[in-house]
Amino acid sequence: MRLSKTVADLMNEQVNHELNAAYIYLGMASYFDGEGLSGFASWFRGHALEEKDHAMKLYDFLVANNVKVILTALEAPSVEYASPEDAITKALRHEESVTDLIKKLFGAAMEAGEYTAQPLLHWFLAEQVEEEDVFSTRLEEVQAVADRFQLLMLDKQLGEEAAAAQPAVEEPA
Ligand SMILES: [Fe+2]
Ligand SMILES: [Fe+2]
Repeated sequence: MRLSKTVADLMNEQVNHELNAAYIYLGMASYFDGEGLSGFASWFRGHALEEKDHAMKLYDFLVANNVKVILTALEAPSVEYASPEDAITKALRHEESVTDLIKKLFGAAMEAGEYTAQPLLHWFLAEQVEEEDVFSTRLEEVQAVADRFQLLMLDKQLGEEAAAAQPAVEEPA
């Protein structure tokens, strides 16, 4: 392994953090499905897939550097929240904690002179800025909702957004 052990270990931990985030968002999708809010649920489901992709970006980088990726047990995510606002607030707080982890990883890579890891980590830093922005927007939207009707309108909008973001799947012939 040519990658610094500190950086490789932190990156491996990050693979598990990203999978954990995927699981947390799938738990939120389940909460929203249970509330009859399938648009929010689809949106969180899409987000769970994004987190899995993040894990795989790091996984692939480690494999390319001949590092064996260690996978740890994932904590069972909550599927109960006090309200949509509560779930989204917790999602935003989670993204903020991931940003801190990526910053720490970036710092370790700088300190170890691991310049080859930097393009990937730059990508993650930019992605975290985007993620925090997206979740903040979602939170402002849900806080502005005055009644169930407006919540259903927002749910419809998120469902459409999630459907548009999904890659087109070809029907089998
Ligand atoms: Fe992520
Ligand atoms: Fe994220």
